Amino acid sequence: MSELDRLMSTAVRREDEDIETSLRPHTLKDYVGQEQVKKSLKIAIEAALSRHDALDHILLYGPPGLGKTTLACIIAAEMGQNIRVTSGPAIDRPGDLASILTNLTAGDILFIDEIHRLSRAVEEVLYSAMEDYALDIMIGKGPTARSIRLDLPKFTLVGATTRAGMLSAPLRDRFGITYRLEMYRTDELASIVSRSAHILKVSCDRDGLYEIASRSRGTPRIANRMLKRVRDYAQVKGDGEITLPIAQQALSLLDVDELGLDRVDRNVLTTMIDKFGGGPVGLDTLAASTGEDAGTIEDVYEPYLLQLGFLMRTPRGRMLTPAAYEHLGRAFPADANGKKEPGPEQTSLFP
Ligand SMILES: Nc1ncnc2c1ncn2[C@@H]1O[C@H](COP(=O)(O)OP(=O)(O)OP(=O)(O)O)[C@@H](O)[C@H]1O
Ligand SMILES: [Mg+2]
Repeated sequence: MSELDRLMSTAVRREDEDIETSLRPHTLKDYVGQEQVKKSLKIAIEAALSRHDALDHILLYGPPGLGKTTLACIIAAEMGQNIRVTSGPAIDRPGDLASILTNLTAGDILFIDEIHRLSRAVEEVLYSAMEDYALDIMIGKGPTARSIRLDLPKFTLVGATTRAGMLSAPLRDRFGITYRLEMYRTDELASIVSRSAHILKVSCDRDGLYEIASRSRGTPRIANRMLKRVRDYAQVKGDGEITLPIAQQALSLLDVDELGLDRVDRNVLTTMIDKFGGGPVGLDTLAASTGEDAGTIEDVYEPYLLQLGFLMRTPRGRMLTPAAYEHLGRAFPADANGKKEPGPEQTSLFP
């Protein structure tokens, strides 16, 4: 199944774009969950506002669909500043970044999505821009070349990435604030779905809300997408209201189980059991045997399976836990413990 066909995909699709704009909260008050991040951000914003100063540069990281772009827009709104949005792959050459930077005005928020995909040459321009609010430009070529320094307005860079590990250390160190977004709890997702249902003018009872929330794998983007699908089902098969049975029927029709796992997740898990005895298995081997892309497994499927406690990352590869076997209705192999954990005779050497 391609990434685009998956209901559970966390990637943005065309059908999402309109709806994401209409459902996106615009203030910190409407931004549900991430309490620690909000608390710290409120203080940083209040302090910057009272000093009439720009905010420190902020790095946001976490799996797709958890609200990084949304938070960047909220930061700009709460600071009362403009936001300029671009992304790592869109900035080809250092000159592109230079022209973006020289067009900023003091206090502006520059949002760079997928910041781990900036090229090295572009990244280097960013170092002095972030640290000294200056741009070093080479003029001319050969022996007559000289470098001039251009001052930049004091701006705030907000960078977002799904892979903090892929950011170079010098870039990471130049962010004054780093926030890791966590997957959302079911009650938080339920209030996100409730807010979205209100905006979309869909009626949805409490059990229906919770059913959608508990199957949306901790991710607001998926919760909103499911709400739309269930709404369609309710219109055609019911009287338009989303209730528990309607939500259950609609989501099973879409092959999403009660924990939010879809066919591809189950394929990953059963492949690990049937072909690799539950692991350990390396990411690339797993990708090849499931026909999925290694990066997609790492970014999209794995975070939720780890969160559920179905999967463990070990130095030797990915391993399944007894909980995963239980969820699939499979017996956990009797020798699994002996095979995977050192037995007492191995540990008794070091009491
Ligand atoms: N805390 C939240 N409260 C309410 N809605 C949210 C929240 N976080 C995200 N959403 C909803 O989820 C959608 C996806 O969020 P967003 O686009 O900000 O994710 P992202 O982290 O930038 O994803 P990606 O990594 O794919 O760019 C938003 O349109 C918004 O409607
Ligand atoms: Mg985004």
